[in-house]
Amino acid sequence: MIALGCDHGGFELMQQIKAHLDSRGLAYTDFGTFTPESCDYADFAVKAGEAVQSGECEKGILVCGTGIGISIAANKMKGIRAAVCTDCFTAEATRLHNDANMLAMGGRVVGPGLALKIVDTFLDTPFSGEERHVRRIAKIQELENEDM
Ligand code: RB5
Repeated sequence: MIALGCDHGGFELMQQIKAHLDSRGLAYTDFGTFTPESCDYADFAVKAGEAVQSGECEKGILVCGTGIGISIAANKMKGIRAAVCTDCFTAEATRLHNDANMLAMGGRVVGPGLALKIVDTFLDTPFSGEERHVRRIAKIQELENEDM
């Protein structure tokens, strides 16, 4: 299950992402926003992030105007590793190296063709599990335990 969250800046792209996930037969839970009206991205980062934190969803996709605000909000949540990606190289690397569990994109930054390739790369790339990456992620988790 994939958790989805967006604000008005990401609303249109999120509709295209949902259609793409449907075409791939991938299940998702949409935590909104559900209209193009102006809203606050942190509210939807939290809703989607909580579903990833609880294990209800194994990954999440977040979209705001830039991908930045919604990823900053999600990254304040313990256990969330949200990566803003504007290309397939970073989408692949953040899965292999960071075991990122949420992808963030900007609806005003990437066009739908590229965005859907980024989604596929993110969802289809496993974590490498290599020792040095496990060690580095453990250090992020230590930071969370100290500061959160
Ligand atoms: C909303 O106008 C915009 O600020 C938001 O979608 C996002 O880009 C913030 O980082």
